[in-house]
Amino acid sequence: MTSTIAELERRRDAARAGGGEKRVAAQHAKGKLTARERLDVLLDEGSFEEVDMFVEHNCVDFGMAEQVIPGDGVVTGSGTINGRLVFVFSQDFTVFGGSLSERHAQKICKIMDMAMKVGAPVIGLNDSGGARIQEGVASLGGYAEVFQRNALASGVVPQLSLIMGPCAGGAVYSPAMTDFIFMVKDSSYMFVTGPEVVKTVTNEVVTQEALGGAVTHTTKTSVADVAFEDDIEALLAARDFIDFLPASNREAAPERPTADAWDRIEPSLDTLVPANANQPYDMHELIRKVVDEGDFFEVQPAHGGNILCGFGRIEGRTIGVVANQPTVLAGVLDINASRKAARFVRFCDAFEIPIVTFVDVPGFLPGTAQEHNGIIKHGAKLLFAYAEATVPKITVITRKAYGGAYDVMASKHLRGDLNYAWPTAEIAVMGAKGAVEIIFRGRTPDEIAERTAEYEARFANPFVAASKGFIDEVIQPHSTRRRIALGLRKLRGKSLENPWKKHDNIPL
Ligand code: HXC
Repeated sequence: MTSTIAELERRRDAARAGGGEKRVAAQHAKGKLTARERLDVLLDEGSFEEVDMFVEHNCVDFGMAEQVIPGDGVVTGSGTINGRLVFVFSQDFTVFGGSLSERHAQKICKIMDMAMKVGAPVIGLNDSGGARIQEGVASLGGYAEVFQRNALASGVVPQLSLIMGPCAGGAVYSPAMTDFIFMVKDSSYMFVTGPEVVKTVTNEVVTQEALGGAVTHTTKTSVADVAFEDDIEALLAARDFIDFLPASNREAAPERPTADAWDRIEPSLDTLVPANANQPYDMHELIRKVVDEGDFFEVQPAHGGNILCGFGRIEGRTIGVVANQPTVLAGVLDINASRKAARFVRFCDAFEIPIVTFVDVPGFLPGTAQEHNGIIKHGAKLLFAYAEATVPKITVITRKAYGGAYDVMASKHLRGDLNYAWPTAEIAVMGAKGAVEIIFRGRTPDEIAERTAEYEARFANPFVAASKGFIDEVIQPHSTRRRIALGLRKLRGKSLENPWKKHDNIPL
């Protein structure tokens, strides 16, 4: 008996040792934690329960029969984050460079299948040299098995990817199909083909970091959502992030007790919007003053900054916030902003997270760059996303809501449940000057100025829209939190279903 227990412990120790001390030291020298150290930071202390610790690869080519490391380059299992169940895989770069073999893939698939069965998020910590080269096509099959599960899990359980090392070639497509991607600066990268292939094919010289590092993907491409300084910062952020999300589409998001009064009045909001309509103000201030304890987890903060998306809570319950940002491009809707917000709205809708939209939008961005790159199709994504969403939708127009962008931003006509406007709102087909220049083309500048003032007085307010019932109420800015809290309470029992269909055909 004792000897069998000792044997178990010996085998466990061998699996825990991964690729050995030298490779672990090399991992640390790169500023990276090991696969198991990462899980220690991510999960509640002592909560990790490993599975498949003794799984081995089945490859006999290229001397692989003699090189067997239990676990085969990925640590898998489940644990808790603030007491809530999550399934995890953590690729171990010290074992064959974390490369994906057939068995390695089977381990990932096993925890994904279990997560789907029980309804819990999947968090993948990616640090891998890609397909296990010695295994060839078996490894490709393994990737495809994972991809298939990513697609089936989408909208059923939240999927979060942390890229904490290499992620190249076809391997990028598994994280790309998950809901959110966090990256670590300087030590992680994602690209379909690396700098050497790029040089050969296009003659471009580019570093790994510039081609597909965390900064590139969170500023330029929007492939990733947030960039972090190091492993620990990324893992702790993932803990906070998961706390906002429901375990699955069958469950509500967790409720976090708060000392923040639901009816807190914020007098400073009464003067947030400057008297001059062309002067910007920071929409973050409004969001932070409305959500519980100012706690707002922004996604894609460095991309498409003219729209803000992220999670907060009201009365301890998660909301998704979408807000035009007047400090960036005057809050205009362009391709990047439309794509960013559309995906966010669809995530919220899939997981029954109510959407609160703050509107200050002068319209869609004009120009050949936008038109030729398909603003029509991309803008339609956001329109489509809001139109199909059946979750509670509360909209607050703080200032401009012009033209098509008024319609798009969770307007009453797109089944907005509660549509509020501040007294500073200007809800109109377009800005006064532009409108007058069209209606009164050819008139003298004096006449235009006079007509503009007339138009402003008539239309640059929320009352025309309110008189038609397009706005449910014009509210005091200082009571915005109270109104939203009351609205969300009211909408808890909301039941709304779209017509049956196999699936929709969102303009991709
Ligand atoms: C098997 C691999 C491996 C791989 C790395 N290793 N990648 N073993 N298959 N894909 C092993 C190395 O042999 C080495 O083993 C250890 O991991 C660490 O690798 P190093 O090269 O020493 O590390 P580093 O200098 O940090 O470079 C990391 C790297 C490089 C940039 C990832 O290893 C690399 O370029 N690897 C190959 C990448 C690649 O071409 N992958 C296949 C892509 S095709 P020892 O024993 O020395 O520690 C693909 C298709 C997927 O992924 C398609 C899905 C649809």
